[in-house]
Amino acid sequence: MKELKILTVCLGNICRSPAAQGILETVAKRYPHIAFEFDSAGTGAYHVGDAPDSRSIKAMSEIGIDISKQRARKVTLEDFEYYDWILAMDAENLANLKRIQPAGSKAKLVMFGEYSPEVSFGAVQDPYYGQDDGFARMREHLLSMAESFIEYATSSSEGKAQ
Ligand code: 4NP
Repeated sequence: MKELKILTVCLGNICRSPAAQGILETVAKRYPHIAFEFDSAGTGAYHVGDAPDSRSIKAMSEIGIDISKQRARKVTLEDFEYYDWILAMDAENLANLKRIQPAGSKAKLVMFGEYSPEVSFGAVQDPYYGQDDGFARMREHLLSMAESFIEYATSSSEGKAQ
């Protein structure tokens, strides 16, 4: 059985990457022939051990996805060997990850919205300091990216990191 291990990463690991994980897990249920494993992490340690932001939990519960049991953690160097894909939410997250990425490590490290040269969904804006509508926008953005990404990652050997 093909395995795909996918880590979503943002700054605090309480708004975007937990939502991205929840959405990816939901989309992945349509692919029962693939053994997926998901987690999320932050480049910062401000919220380690915390549940996702209540606004993120609410935005996700509105579409029937429960992310309330996730707990924030900081990305580790081992993540670069364990995961096939590490999906950064924005360019700053990506730059921070590239800075610590061990040379020759396994994970394919990309910005989620630009997982292949042919796609450009852009960065997932940080909704933390904004209003509630930012969380609905984040959710819709993540939904379209997740559908497209899972299709890509499952349909070709290119989608799996070598
Ligand atoms: P996230 O949002 O990176 O999507 O989880 C943030 C959450 C908290 C902070 C920044 C961004 N913070 O600075 O505490």
